[in-house]
Amino acid sequence: MIARHILLALSAATLASADTLINTLQQNGFGDFASIYQDADPSILSSVDAGSNMIIYASKNVQGTTNSTLRRRGSTTNTQIAAMSSVQKTASSSKKLRFKRHQADSSPAVYQSLLSDPEIVNLGPGVNQSLVERPVEDVPTVFAGAGKAVLVVGDDIAFDGGVIRPVDSLLEIPGSIGNTLALFPQLSNFTALLNQFNLLKPVSEAAGITVLAPEDSAFAAVDTSRLTDEQMVAILSQHVIVNYVGYSPRLKDGQVLNTLANGTVTVAVRDCGVYFNGAKVTAADVIVGNGVVHTVASVVGSEDGDDTQKPLPLALLPLLDLVFE
Ligand SMILES: *[C@@H]1O[C@H](CO)[C@@H](O)[C@H](O)[C@H]1NC(C)=O
Ligand SMILES: *[C@@H]1O[C@H](CO)[C@@H](O)[C@H](O)[C@H]1NC(C)=O
Ligand SMILES: *[C@@H]1O[C@H](CO)[C@@H](O)[C@H](O)[C@H]1NC(C)=O
Ligand SMILES: *[C@@H]1O[C@H](CO)[C@@H](O)[C@H](O)[C@H]1NC(C)=O
Repeated sequence: MIARHILLALSAATLASADTLINTLQQNGFGDFASIYQDADPSILSSVDAGSNMIIYASKNVQGTTNSTLRRRGSTTNTQIAAMSSVQKTASSSKKLRFKRHQADSSPAVYQSLLSDPEIVNLGPGVNQSLVERPVEDVPTVFAGAGKAVLVVGDDIAFDGGVIRPVDSLLEIPGSIGNTLALFPQLSNFTALLNQFNLLKPVSEAAGITVLAPEDSAFAAVDTSRLTDEQMVAILSQHVIVNYVGYSPRLKDGQVLNTLANGTVTVAVRDCGVYFNGAKVTAADVIVGNGVVHTVASVVGSEDGDDTQKPLPLALLPLLDLVFE
């Protein structure tokens, strides 16, 4: 019971010390970051201060920007950055909970942000742009757009609407699939093939998808010259999971997901990594406006190749069964 009293006393103390987001940012050395919110659409700041359990990913390193370059960047961009940096820890909690945690505590999670701009977000009705936070070598890491991850660099700081979580740089606003794939030189074959077979447009326009993008080394072992266009479309479409955004914290061992090729992929979660029909994920959680991209080491076949050591040519065999059926 004594412990309970201490807890109540502690939470009363936290309550008394909390303040608005802007004041808390300014008092903790995030003045430049605060000016992004001040320049953003006012609805963002009012949602944040009225919110509960918000997490604000705040950076002291606003990439060398001064207030004048922030202004030049434009209020639209600042609105997007502020909205993307403001996420809801729990969507449904009506109570204002304050939580403080040590920097190293980070269980994998998908958080929805305040970024809902339909020009750049297409995740299905009522779903805002989301991001992934998960530990990488014990450091809590936040995955956002452009394949860029930022690191959590300090303990949470409470404010009226939740906590400020210090990170080492600004989150990137997720772009389109096309713009994002173009940032990865190791995905040049996959990107070129999507273009060549007119799949980039439908894949970019679909709401809420997961793209499994094989690295160029996966295509080196494949002779695509003998395949018809129809077979190539079927192979490439097998790399697009439809109506499901498979952010890594959501993936479960044994999960079966539908692909654009009208096939399925089975997820395997092992100590050594995550696999889709035997193709190993090499970089997870590249966030895009209409879903997520994971890069994979081999071409994804049509069957569950539950063999984590499968070499590339074998990975293609079940696929060829599919296309020659
Ligand atoms: C930018 O503006 C904000 C609010 O107007 C102020 O608190 C902050 O100190 C300014 N930063 C610089 C680098 O001038
Ligand atoms: C989505 O974003 C809008 C606009 O910022 C916000 O009002 C709404 O609460 C957000 N939804 C969720 C579930 O966070
Ligand atoms: C992959 O890219 C290389 C270099 O541009 C090219 O020579 C090769 O034909 C491409 N492979 C496929 C399957 O498109
Ligand atoms: C998947 O099925 C739909 C409807 O039956 C069909 O229109 C489409 O061409 C199929 N896609 C592939 C890649 O086979």
